[in-house]
Amino acid sequence: MGRCCFYAVGTLSLLLLVTSVTLLVARVFQKAVDQAIEKNIVLRNGSETFDSWKKPPLPVYIQFYFFNVTNPEEILSGEIPRVEEVGPYTYRELRNKADIQFGDNGTTISAVSNKAYVFERDKSVGDPKTDLLRTLNIPALTAMEWTHLPLLREIIEALLRAYRQKLFVTHTVDELLWGYKDEILSLINILEPDISPYFGLFYGKNGTNDGDYVFLTGEDNYLNFSKIVEWNGKTSLDWWTADTCNMINGTDGDSFHPLITKDEVLYVFPSDFCRSVYITFSDFERVQGLPALRYKVPAEILANTSDNAGFCIPKGNCLGSGVLNVSVCKNGAPIIMSFPHFYQADEKFVSAIDGMHPNKEYHETFVDINPLTGIILRAAKRFQINVYVRKLDDFIETGNIRTLVFPVMYLNESVLIDKETASRLKSVVNTTMVITNIPYIILALGVFFGLIFTWLVCRGQGSMDEVSRASLRSLFLRIQ
Ligand SMILES: *[C@@H]1O[C@H](CO)[C@@H](O)[C@H](O)[C@H]1NC(C)=O
Ligand SMILES: *[C@@H]1O[C@H](CO)[C@@H](O)[C@H](O)[C@H]1NC(C)=O
Ligand SMILES: *[C@@H]1O[C@H](CO)[C@@H](O)[C@H](O)[C@H]1NC(C)=O
Ligand SMILES: *[C@@H]1O[C@H](CO)[C@@H](O)[C@H](O)[C@H]1NC(C)=O
Ligand SMILES: *[C@@H]1O[C@H](CO)[C@@H](O)[C@H](O)[C@H]1NC(C)=O
Ligand SMILES: *[C@@H]1O[C@H](CO)[C@@H](O)[C@H](O)[C@H]1NC(C)=O
Ligand SMILES: *[C@@H]1O[C@H](CO)[C@@H](O)[C@H](O)[C@H]1NC(C)=O
Ligand SMILES: *[C@@H]1O[C@H](CO)[C@@H](O)[C@H](O)[C@H]1NC(C)=O
Ligand SMILES: *[C@@H]1O[C@H](CO)[C@@H](O)[C@H](O)[C@H]1NC(C)=O
Repeated sequence: MGRCCFYAVGTLSLLLLVTSVTLLVARVFQKAVDQAIEKNIVLRNGSETFDSWKKPPLPVYIQFYFFNVTNPEEILSGEIPRVEEVGPYTYRELRNKADIQFGDNGTTISAVSNKAYVFERDKSVGDPKTDLLRTLNIPALTAMEWTHLPLLREIIEALLRAYRQKLFVTHTVDELLWGYKDEILSLINILEPDISPYFGLFYGKNGTNDGDYVFLTGEDNYLNFSKIVEWNGKTSLDWWTADTCNMINGTDGDSFHPLITKDEVLYVFPSDFCRSVYITFSDFERVQGLPALRYKVPAEILANTSDNAGFCIPKGNCLGSGVLNVSVCKNGAPIIMSFPHFYQADEKFVSAIDGMHPNKEYHETFVDINPLTGIILRAAKRFQINVYVRKLDDFIETGNIRTLVFPVMYLNESVLIDKETASRLKSVVNTTMVITNIPYIILALGVFFGLIFTWLVCRGQGSMDEVSRASLRSLFLRIQ
């Protein structure tokens, strides 16, 4: 029995070791798991991925912070503006995709992305219906920019003179966000029906969408999952002065392809930012017990570099690092985008305004992605809307104002996975972990039996030695 057992253990150990090494080298289980994920995370009618893409289950909040101007008279006489941050005014964002249609044998899907906003009083500092804010008169400043247009020039100039608009106006939070009827815009509207008489930073955005999208479903390749191929019938933008800048890259930021590695650069096209951006890996994180890769918008996105020269319009007119002139995509309104409090922008923008306190923790944009499934576990998208103002000799209402990138509002659109979804995702992650670890379990068993085998060999050697010593002794005895 001893001898039989001895060989059995040895063979078993060898077999297990060879099997595990073969499995590890060929990555059999890893590949099987990857393939299952690639097959499942596809926008296919009826799939779970499709359902959560259509109606995202996670709660999204959007928080608005305003800059209340405290010294308007002094600003008009050329002093540094002093602003006070007021917020948050928090809204629950309700999202769903509509007008969904599959195309090209299920490799593309077209849809619109509807968003509605519902105020959350207990997550806000005050009542947007009554809270008053003093800020720049954006419609008047926009109309002043329109005087560059040949047709409207004289009429607008006459209107602005006749109506003597103030440069700073006071409105409720509600009006400033969701729209109010503006005097000047109403008059221009009579002549130019395309120009809305209403103005609001989020005017017309409640219950509507930002245009028609065509996405790839991921059916042809998992790397293409939810990648945008067309927006409003176009495959690229036409606002910027370089082809690379006009590219519509990546997803809309609500989903990412599965099996993400930290060396990857991910592309996102947030239409409200008027351009594609990329995000890069920065840290490993854990969110509700799930592993995540933290991706961030790097400072290079808005840096004054040759790569970004195409975003300087008119051509060659770069304003510096950390700001983006989006006037072309906002009907000519002199809107400048930046990160909140001019985070990662040139110091000149921060020091031009009293009340800017850029801070990495509060003002950076990041997304924590589960690398296996590509599902977003936590994210915060933050940017600031500024208005470009300068003294205009034709308009005395601009007084002696300095040339400024003037902050008006910033927002934080955030999402955090809830406990229930997290625990469901955790079981998927754990199952795949067990499966991919099977070769290691086999390896461990092989090592275990190997140790038993070695022990048997040593013990066997001991008894063998005794046998041979005994026979040697008897041999000598016979010779003598
Ligand atoms: C998905 O399938 C359902 C039921 O088969 C059908 O009613 C629906 O129109 C399909 N959706 C799309 C976008 O094709
Ligand atoms: C769809 O699939 C059919 C058959 O596989 C093929 O003949 C056809 O060209 C495909 N159409 C598109 C748009 O890919
Ligand atoms: C947006 O629309 C929804 C539904 O139509 C409404 O309940 C909500 O109050 C609106 N939000 C704002 C900020 O007007
Ligand atoms: C903003 O400033 C104005 C003028 O100083 C003030 O009346 C108003 O109460 C301030 N708003 C908030 C929300 O603090
Ligand atoms: C889909 O992915 C493949 C492989 O990565 C790529 O060659 C192809 O161009 C992608 N399709 C589109 C429309 O981007
Ligand atoms: C879009 O992606 C390409 C590489 O695929 C890159 O060269 C280009 O700069 C990107 N454009 C933007 C606006 O991010
Ligand atoms: C942007 O960079 C260019 C080249 O490095 C430099 O000449 C220019 O002064 C910079 N512009 C601003 C506004 O910082
Ligand atoms: C922003 O872009 C618009 C449109 O091209 C241009 O008219 C305006 O002068 C630019 N603003 C600044 C401050 O460069
Ligand atoms: C959003 O960001 C602001 C600062 O920009 C921060 O105060 C707030 O707590 C953030 N909200 C969430 C839900 O992360």
